[in-house]
Amino acid sequence: MKALTLEKYGLPKKVLRLTEQKKPSYQKNEVLVKIHSTAINDYDWSLVRGKPLMYRLMFGLVKPKSKSLGMELSGTVEAVGSEVTEFEIGDEVYGDTSAHGFGTFAEYISLPPKALATKPKTMTYEDAAALPHAALLALQGMKEIGGIKNGMKVLINGAGGGVGTIGLQLAKIHHCEVTGVDRQEKFEALSNLGYDHLINYQLENFTKNGIQYDLILDCKTDKLPFSYARSLKANGVYVSIGGKINYLLSTLILGKALSVISSKRFEILSLKSNQGLKEIEGMYENKQIKPVIDGPYPLSLGPDKLQEFGNGYHIGKIILSIIT
Ligand SMILES: NC(=O)c1ccc[n+]([C@@H]2O[C@H](COP(=O)([O-])OP(=O)(O)OC[C@H]3O[C@@H](n4cnc5c(N)ncnc54)[C@H](OP(=O)(O)O)[C@@H]3O)[C@@H](O)[C@H]2O)c1
Repeated sequence: MKALTLEKYGLPKKVLRLTEQKKPSYQKNEVLVKIHSTAINDYDWSLVRGKPLMYRLMFGLVKPKSKSLGMELSGTVEAVGSEVTEFEIGDEVYGDTSAHGFGTFAEYISLPPKALATKPKTMTYEDAAALPHAALLALQGMKEIGGIKNGMKVLINGAGGGVGTIGLQLAKIHHCEVTGVDRQEKFEALSNLGYDHLINYQLENFTKNGIQYDLILDCKTDKLPFSYARSLKANGVYVSIGGKINYLLSTLILGKALSVISSKRFEILSLKSNQGLKEIEGMYENKQIKPVIDGPYPLSLGPDKLQEFGNGYHIGKIILSIIT
């Protein structure tokens, strides 16, 4: 089978190659999936470069332990192990495989059933590959932790990425006033998507403009919690889903302390993969959410598209199609 693989860390166009690999075997408690589409995620960008260096404790110190990238997929079940009861051959499936490993930048992958969900018939393969990771980061961050309510004033930092573009739609279901923070070049598209206000992070620090929010969803934490506290109303919630490691640590430690001494709450989301997909499916089928898709592109363009992801040129999710 064809797969995008890497032997060493580096920039995608230098180290990522389309290679011929053995079709994976599957265990009696696994499902073999023929992949239709996959999406590029922050994990892929980190894994290919081995950065931040701390990630090498997980990925391999000197070179990557695994040659494979990709952790989101849609496809069809090609074979099932003898102990699998959840799926049958021919079922259309999708999911976030991050809790079970990488390997979706390929024609086939074998996985335990809990890495997968049944893809609704009305959902395209491209949308199905775009939703599991980003939509659940947004849902778990804004609803489970953030407790989003009708009419709240919400800020999304990293407004134009996979999470931000779905987060906006979740907030609009609740009739919230939503401010997005991202770079100027994306403003026209983000305004068309429905953001009420936009802030260019390259020119303005939103924590210094005096405006306060009920809920902040931060995809790019790069400040101390004291700064974010200025932008929260009383009883406001700051939810970080990712960012610079030193600032995430300070959110964890100082944020917890601030949560104790003030009415403002500071939280970091730890994604529970695939939990909440039924709710996302409902919103998708009711046409309340729709992922913003860049692509689909052929797998062979994966190295270029991963570089573009790293450069931040994309809006929404970059999708690679394995079957075209
Ligand atoms: N908590 C968990 O369990 C978990 C699990 C997986 C992933 N994550 C995290 O979730 C996040 C993924 O978000 P995503 O998929 O939406 O990422 P994304 O698609 O890369 O989007 C991020 C957006 O933020 C913008 N941006 C970059 N720097 C910024 C800054 N300093 N201020 C404001 N905006 C900025 C980017 O634009 P430009 O780069 O063009 O400026 C881009 O539009 C990552 O931080 C990842 O590490 C968390």
